[in-house]
Amino acid sequence: MENFQFNSNTQIFFGKGQISNLPNEIKKYGKKVLLVYGGGSIKKIGLYDTVINLLKDFEIHELNGVKPNPKIESVREGVKLCREHSIEVVLAVGGGSVIDCAKIISAATFCKEDAWDMIKKSIKTETALPIITVLTLSATGSEYDAGAIIANKSENEKLGYESELIRPKTSILDPEYTFTVSAYQTAAGSVDIISHILEQYFVPYSPFLADKLCEAVLKTVIKYLPKAIENPKDYEARGQLMWASSIADNGILSLGSRITAFSCHGIEHELNGYYDTTHGVGLAIITIRWMRYILNEKANEEILKRFANYGINVWDIDSNLEKLEISKKSIDLTEKFFKSLGIPMSLTELGIGEEHFEEMASNSVKYGFLEYAFVPLDKNDVIKILKMCL
Ligand code: NZQ
Ligand code: ZN
Repeated sequence: MENFQFNSNTQIFFGKGQISNLPNEIKKYGKKVLLVYGGGSIKKIGLYDTVINLLKDFEIHELNGVKPNPKIESVREGVKLCREHSIEVVLAVGGGSVIDCAKIISAATFCKEDAWDMIKKSIKTETALPIITVLTLSATGSEYDAGAIIANKSENEKLGYESELIRPKTSILDPEYTFTVSAYQTAAGSVDIISHILEQYFVPYSPFLADKLCEAVLKTVIKYLPKAIENPKDYEARGQLMWASSIADNGILSLGSRITAFSCHGIEHELNGYYDTTHGVGLAIITIRWMRYILNEKANEEILKRFANYGINVWDIDSNLEKLEISKKSIDLTEKFFKSLGIPMSLTELGIGEEHFEEMASNSVKYGFLEYAFVPLDKNDVIKILKMCL
């Protein structure tokens, strides 16, 4: 096993009614709160009113309208509010976009440079406001990790930033808040969960325990996602997806593995520099082509072994078959599953052509460190994968 250090110091409150803990959690850090939320879903589900009622003894300032693939302009607006009102705690209520926006606000408030420069130059965070989250969409794992991704349309870029200081202090995970998530977003969010796991599973080395943990969470999502889509108020299904989301991206599943670059994420994030595609949908499209490409163009014993493990242990394919056959079947079954969710499975369906593939490919290699991935990819490889996605 590889050496590792692990600290995922977020207080989790999971389950029905856990929102009642919110005032006590916020009180630990102060009275002046910046409430960050998106385009209104939290109002429709009554969560906004619940939060405001619970926090009537606090001074609340609001940043609303945070869009999917959160934009740097919202971050700047939030930083301004934090500075103007001497905010003490940032409260994010929403999905990954809202939480990511809140995370960068909390760090950039103390940064002497502009928030985008902080991200782009990876300026180290020395101080950040504490962040508390109330999750409403199971997908990114942002509620339980130390990263955030922000888009800058004027530069056609979407970049990630990491700091232990932006890891949420507390996250409230009540599956009931996800009952209203559309079938499309539920599917996209779960593909994101699956992709986070696959990115940690297709690695040069992983111990038995890490493999089994990854396979268990993959099987959980494959089992419960169709149930959540069929019956959006299935508490058990929503609950399983919510906890899967939180543990899929905070590193716990792959402790002891030799983790490399997240290849499909590296490519997908570049789509958002130019287009407002849904993260999980982009991942579904790219993942299948990435799998086919590495199997057809780069296959070696190690790659075949990984696919065979995946096919046998996740998709229950007969282990007596040849590794190559198991590998192909595993990709076919993954694709069939994604297709059954009713999400678009090509870039063409999203209205995306090949006009920006050159820039997207070179940026994904640069910012996604794809030359150091499990299966190293250069710009030409990425262009070929993107063309397969059309
Ligand atoms: O804006 P509102 O009105 O809230 O509507 C949102 C949004 O339109 C809606 N929604 C959220 N909760 C809902 C709901 N609709 C009905 N009922 C509810 N309970 O869903 C839409 C999408 O929300 P968004 O937050 O954008 O989705 P998601 O959670 O998938 O976040 C995606 C973002 O996270 C980044 C992605 O790149 C993308 O920008 N990621 C963040 C990561 C991290 N911090 O660790 C890792 C991921 O790999 C990912 O890159
Ligand atoms: Zn993701």
